[in-house]
Amino acid sequence: MFPAASLLTIIFLALSIAGSPVEIDNSPVTLPIARRLNVSNGPINLLQQDKARVTALKDNSFSTQGGHTGSTPVTDVVLTYLIAVGIGSPATTYNLIVDTGSSNTWVGANTKYVKTKTSVDTREPVSVGYGSGSFSGTEYIDTVTLGSGLTITAQSIGVASTSAGFTSVDGILGIGPVGLTSDTLTNEPTKTIPTVTDNLYSQGTISQKVIGISFEPTISKTVTNGELTFGGTDATKYTGSIEYTPITTTYPSSNYWGINQSISYGSTTILSSTAGIVDTGTTFVYIASDAYAKYKSATGGTLDAATGLLLISSSQYKALKNLNFHIGSKTYALTPNAQIWPRSLNSYVGGSSNAIYLMVSDIGTPSGAGFDFVNGYTFLERFYSVFDTANSRVGFAETSYTDATTN
Ligand SMILES: *[C@@H]1O[C@H](CO)[C@@H](O)[C@H](O)[C@H]1NC(C)=O
Ligand SMILES: *[C@@H]1O[C@H](CO)[C@@H](O)[C@H](O)[C@H]1NC(C)=O
Repeated sequence: MFPAASLLTIIFLALSIAGSPVEIDNSPVTLPIARRLNVSNGPINLLQQDKARVTALKDNSFSTQGGHTGSTPVTDVVLTYLIAVGIGSPATTYNLIVDTGSSNTWVGANTKYVKTKTSVDTREPVSVGYGSGSFSGTEYIDTVTLGSGLTITAQSIGVASTSAGFTSVDGILGIGPVGLTSDTLTNEPTKTIPTVTDNLYSQGTISQKVIGISFEPTISKTVTNGELTFGGTDATKYTGSIEYTPITTTYPSSNYWGINQSISYGSTTILSSTAGIVDTGTTFVYIASDAYAKYKSATGGTLDAATGLLLISSSQYKALKNLNFHIGSKTYALTPNAQIWPRSLNSYVGGSSNAIYLMVSDIGTPSGAGFDFVNGYTFLERFYSVFDTANSRVGFAETSYTDATTN
């Protein structure tokens, strides 16, 4: 219709009318995240470590008792989704766990914090216990850079002086609800610390407090196939539409990205509608003990001592039915293949190479606890997820991996 030159002129005119300088503002920003299974110290009990975290989440014990680890020995985090985050000017890059189940952002566990001209020491002691680990140190104000050019000024971050369970990563990018930061500042327990999402929004960098997350199933130990979008969603990463469900009002799930859902195995309900959470820091799917007992008996799985996971035979695998998550008016089905640990990674979790292990485990308490499931990577690697603070809701959509045979 228009020759290119005149079209450009029209665009320039439109832009100069709109005001200059022209800023590309408010658009969603997408960043890569890497999935890493660090088994350099030999086979690990992934379940034990994962479960310690789930127990801490359930007991709602992220707080200034940073040392809280129950009776479980702390082992280093081994399966993580990591994002590269720059802090300071010039920036030092830190590899941080992308965590929707906690909200403090902190560094210094492995790569030491490098102070620059943008670092401000607030002298506020901070500490957080995660069940599977902990950190304590001092809160700093600094410039945080996400990807190339998404900059947050005056972000409050924790700088660890001691930490446990995080020696192979540098810390955490906490993108849970801001309320989870209360009781983490030792001297001001009622104060909360604005999260990176809060500051991206208040500084006008994103126009909505929305995070979109894409994970994909994988059989490699390390691969960059995840994606975190601030300020919106990435339509190339899901199929169909995103359906939303409100944050649950049931405590303690209501403190997290908590939702109501029911679960059926095939056509049999194993967990009636109840509250639980969606968590990018948990590997497996956890369900209340009564639901787990039903799942175990329906699948025929037996508890494997080496891995802690349910072991099934190949004929039981052939007979496996979909595990259906009913959320709002939608059903999200984990296919049989989506319910099993990738067989090529069996030896790393202490399993035998041809065995088949299920990625659904026992939360450790009967349903009715207000925290009756955790939808971890097992679920999130098959469905796109959206965390919408402004509208207090969580969304899910199918992806090209929902029904894929990968494991
Ligand atoms: C894996 O974890 C160990 C500590 O458990 C650490 O020494 C090593 O550097 C880590 N490897 C990678 C690739 O991060
Ligand atoms: C979730 O379930 C609880 C318990 O049945 C119910 O009170 C609540 O209204 C439901 N919906 C939300 C959004 O919490």
